[in-house]
Amino acid sequence: MKVCVIGGAGYIGSHAVYELIRDGHEVVVIDNLSTGKKEMVHKDAKFYLGDITIAENLKEIFKQECEIKPFDVVMHFAAKLIVPESVEQPLEYYYNNVEGVRIMLSVMKDFNIKNVVFSSTAAVYGEPEKEICEETDRTNPINPYGETKLASEKLIKWVCERYNMNYCIFRYFNVAGADESLEIGLNKDNLTHIVPVTVQTALGIRDKMIVFGNDYDTKDGTCVRDYIHVSDLAYAHVLGAKYLVNNNKSLLVNLGSNEGYSVLEIIKEVEKYYKVNYEIGERRAGDPAKLIASNNKAKELLGWTPKRNLSDIIKSDINYRIKIKD
Ligand code: UFG
Repeated sequence: MKVCVIGGAGYIGSHAVYELIRDGHEVVVIDNLSTGKKEMVHKDAKFYLGDITIAENLKEIFKQECEIKPFDVVMHFAAKLIVPESVEQPLEYYYNNVEGVRIMLSVMKDFNIKNVVFSSTAAVYGEPEKEICEETDRTNPINPYGETKLASEKLIKWVCERYNMNYCIFRYFNVAGADESLEIGLNKDNLTHIVPVTVQTALGIRDKMIVFGNDYDTKDGTCVRDYIHVSDLAYAHVLGAKYLVNNNKSLLVNLGSNEGYSVLEIIKEVEKYYKVNYEIGERRAGDPAKLIASNNKAKELLGWTPKRNLSDIIKSDINYRIKIKD
């Protein structure tokens, strides 16, 4: 397949590029490098500096590439994704996340590209009604980030229906870890996610960390999440792209593990290797108590299940952070 990866210099996009290349596909990356880094792009992928919110940018690149050979699939990873930031900057989030998708779809339509793989999020479920989220559960985002992803999902569905295109929408749960080559990983300033924050504290990059609340209705009072290794998640994109090309049908699936771990369990896992200096603090606004995915649909339609467990996720994040420390 020839695959266009928009946002392929970011954390998840770059891992998807690595998995596509390992599986033997031709990859073209478009990224505006606002948060991504050029050195995260696999050396065998072709790179274009381009912005999804500038239609002319995208048209030019598509023209150049599709004249040689049209894309079989376009993948979208070019979203802003920080929940508290989305509350502060709703206009920027809607513009980048939803308008970006609209422009991408419009250019795909003009160039007659039929298949799109889209990164969505568990945040579309909001505060879930059930212990384990299924794709048919009601969606009810509780922050602008989740709303922009749900709006994009709907836009994609309507456009694909109208123009005879196919979509593969993935709702990600909590993604962490790094590629086993350690060439790529989550390498940004001011990280906020629990796995890198805990590992950074363990390695002495931070003095201490705060556990945001221990009075939730969960096994130990701290929030429970479904953790998934970024390489497992990235490989699902290869399967999703193949599904679209081979079946000419759309799908929407969760990418999670069917299992939940509490914040204290994450800390305990890291403490198998290093001491973690933490304190219990106040609840963080907008945190649901539990978010766990049913991954039965991904298994049934794509034959996908995660190959790596929490211990693998933690070990790979530790190794990556040690590598980039110096
Ligand atoms: N947490 C702490 N201390 C920290 C950081 C996080 O206690 O320093 C807690 C949070 O309060 C939460 C849990 O760890 O209970 C996980 O928090 P993250 O910030 O790591 O991740 P979120 O669950 O908030 O969100 C992530 C993605 C979303 C996605 C969601 C799906 O950022 O885009 O997973 O489950 F929707």
